[in-house]
Amino acid sequence: MLTCLKFVVLLLLLSSRSCDGLQFNDIDEEVELVAQSSRYGSLWPLPQKVQLSDVSFKLTTSSFRIVDAKESSAGPSCSLLQNAYRRYYDYIFENAKKSWQAKGKRTGPSELGELQVWITSADSECDGYPSVTSDESYELTVNQPFAVLKAPKVWGALHGLETFSQLVYKDEFGTKNINQTTISDFPRFAHRGILLDSSRHFLPIKVILANLETMAMNKFNVFHWHIVDDQSFPYLSRTFPQLSQKGAYHPYTHVYTPADVKMVIEFARLRGIRVVPEYDTPGHTQSWGKGQADLLTPCYAGSKPSGAFGPVNPILNTTYDFMTQFFKEISTVFPDAYIHLGGDEVDFTCWKSNPDIQKFMEQQGFGQDYSKLESFYIQKLLNIVSTTNKGYMIWQEVFDNGVKLKPDTVIHVWKGNAQQYKNEMANVTSSGYQTLLSTPWYLNRISYGQDWQGFYKADPQDFKGTEEQKKLVIGGEACLWGEYVDATNLTPRLWPRASAVAERLWSAKDVTDISDAFNRLSAHRCRMVERDIPAEPLFSSYCPHEYKGV
Ligand SMILES: *[C@@H]1O[C@H](CO)[C@@H](O)[C@H](O)[C@H]1NC(C)=O
Ligand SMILES: *[C@@H]1O[C@H](CO)[C@@H](O)[C@H](O)[C@H]1NC(C)=O
Ligand SMILES: *[C@@H]1O[C@H](CO)[C@@H](O)[C@H](O)[C@H]1NC(C)=O
Repeated sequence: MLTCLKFVVLLLLLSSRSCDGLQFNDIDEEVELVAQSSRYGSLWPLPQKVQLSDVSFKLTTSSFRIVDAKESSAGPSCSLLQNAYRRYYDYIFENAKKSWQAKGKRTGPSELGELQVWITSADSECDGYPSVTSDESYELTVNQPFAVLKAPKVWGALHGLETFSQLVYKDEFGTKNINQTTISDFPRFAHRGILLDSSRHFLPIKVILANLETMAMNKFNVFHWHIVDDQSFPYLSRTFPQLSQKGAYHPYTHVYTPADVKMVIEFARLRGIRVVPEYDTPGHTQSWGKGQADLLTPCYAGSKPSGAFGPVNPILNTTYDFMTQFFKEISTVFPDAYIHLGGDEVDFTCWKSNPDIQKFMEQQGFGQDYSKLESFYIQKLLNIVSTTNKGYMIWQEVFDNGVKLKPDTVIHVWKGNAQQYKNEMANVTSSGYQTLLSTPWYLNRISYGQDWQGFYKADPQDFKGTEEQKKLVIGGEACLWGEYVDATNLTPRLWPRASAVAERLWSAKDVTDISDAFNRLSAHRCRMVERDIPAEPLFSSYCPHEYKGV
């Protein structure tokens, strides 16, 4: 009750609100804020270097154009850029599509006629895929007679187009304006990901694409597709069609066909986003067992099989034959240099119950240490995947269990409280491995109030370690696990909460001013809404263009 009183006093100053929900303790730690305008406008995530001025230019649908600079190494044949010009023109003018074809009219003195996009390196990478080493930097100068966006590769140009669109605002007469600006920008971390889970609930392609689009607005560059798990196997494999035939929620309506997967990968590529699929084994595989006989371990009740199945059976050669063929397919379907191999939460109960496994343990001299058996399996799996020339990412347990890993393995940290995950980051990096952080960014966990502030404050390099160790942190991922999420609530649950993670992973380390972040994020959220993304509100407020629904 006391807590409640304290907050009534505080909240009365800001807005009228009842005590509803104040029993949730999270609210104690968060500051309630009211949006004002930031000196950085609505830029999100904040670029590394920004110089804004009060000199403003007008943009008109009939004369403004986004064009290739004549010095650019990517000409009209670069469909990735042409596609992006169209997309951003539409965003800038709120889908006034009719005018795109208009020839450049003469522009007035205070008008900005062109944004020239100049890819400066000989290889624009227009037809390539983004990777963890892609150059995403860009420089943007908005001035008369035209604005220039310079980037070594198309990836930086895509980010620069988003930034340019964020600089455009409407004046009181409804005219589009942009201020004279100089920006020099690059990401703090190379890996900025979102994990979506299409196993606990099937996610229609449409919702996946909408989120890739929103990821681009937030400069995220990795879609970690947790595509299968215990609950369902929606991935339609050409080599093993029985897996989805038997393991999907529905064999025709709840599957991702090869064409669907291709579409997701290309849609992502056009937005500078990598698609890293996760095929988690040996645990989290109940759905795999439905379409692939003998893949899972039969559990025993006393001396007889109970009819239940446990993790992948690590003692059969057929298991490894299957994995070899399966990952050969996966490595050709997904162009990214990495596959996420999971390896988390392996339950040993079933393995312990099985007499054949017990015998194998004895033969191998593993004693009663079932994590040695897990390591035995993972080791063989990693060797198989290595032959496909892919790198791998794994959840932290695989490292914790001391499995021998390739030096370029990425260890994904997800467990523990703040102290524990910081220790883990220290441990992983002191062993020389690259790492990704997710622990503080489980966005499927919801609570009353502005929980984005907690996401915003977490910093993946905030642990005890040398400079060398800090460099091994390649970024992080916001995770949206799917037990309570499907297409009905995915987008508002993810945005703008994931935007907080986006800024942490892109902007400079010292960008930590919560109230400035709130001001910019409120405006950024309204921009997402204006672009038809149902991003939820941060607090009591309004947007110039409210979400229209469907
Ligand atoms: C843009 O310029 C106008 C004056 O033309 C000024 O009022 C506004 O604050 C400027 N916006 C930013 C973000 O600098
Ligand atoms: C499984 O493979 C190993 C190594 O190739 C071989 O020694 C063993 O005989 C095989 N087991 C069976 C049951 O085929
Ligand atoms: C780091 O790993 C070692 C070896 O696995 C373990 O003994 C130690 O407790 C770990 N340290 C931390 C801080 O987690």
